[in-house]
Amino acid sequence: MHIDILTVLPELLESPLRHSILKRAQEKGLLSVKIHQLRKWAVNEYGQVDDYQYGGGAGMVIMCEPLAKAIEELSAAAPYDEIIYLTPDGERFSQKMANALSLKQRLLLICGHYKGIDQRIRDHLVTREISIGDYVLSGGELPAAVLVDAVGRLLPGVLNDETSALTDSYQDNLLAPPVYTRPADFRGWKVPDVLLSGDPKKIEEWRYEQALIRTKQKRPDLLKEEE
Ligand code: ADE
Repeated sequence: MHIDILTVLPELLESPLRHSILKRAQEKGLLSVKIHQLRKWAVNEYGQVDDYQYGGGAGMVIMCEPLAKAIEELSAAAPYDEIIYLTPDGERFSQKMANALSLKQRLLLICGHYKGIDQRIRDHLVTREISIGDYVLSGGELPAAVLVDAVGRLLPGVLNDETSALTDSYQDNLLAPPVYTRPADFRGWKVPDVLLSGDPKKIEEWRYEQALIRTKQKRPDLLKEEE
């Protein structure tokens, strides 16, 4: 999968992509991510990409021209499956959406800033708008990093058996069961016996039961979604 990201703050995105699983995915050639400075397509020599909003009001708006030029130039190499604008008024991001996006070949992510981007780009060039939650961040960079992480780790071959996504919370609409490691007894706080039993069937059943209990207690809405 290839992901291009358009931003005025590339530094905010670089570090999350350079570590851990995303680093490994890129080294293995399963994922390539390229961050593009939007100012490369600025409207003048001062690097301007934003302007005051029509109708008045505080906050700058990212202009049509730099975005349209950037999108058109980047699309010329090969068309995108989705051109995604990260915005608090977008469709709420979920594991289901991450699963679906992980099947795509090429994505373009647009990070807004200030008051956002000119509506005409959203109307004519963006194919999908995504929010990572009901709160407002200063820009789309952290949401883009969240999306790349959630999607990148699902690409076939990125995770091994030990880190398999199949047992993650939210796959199957269930939260993940509790996990324990050595020692079996810490200050008298004991690991459940079943996990020490060596009986894989019993362990599997226990984990499923615990996942159900945890979901009922913490996120009963997930079980309702299932029905
Ligand atoms: N930009 C600012 N806040 C955001 C959010 N919650 N999700 C996606 N993009 C955003």
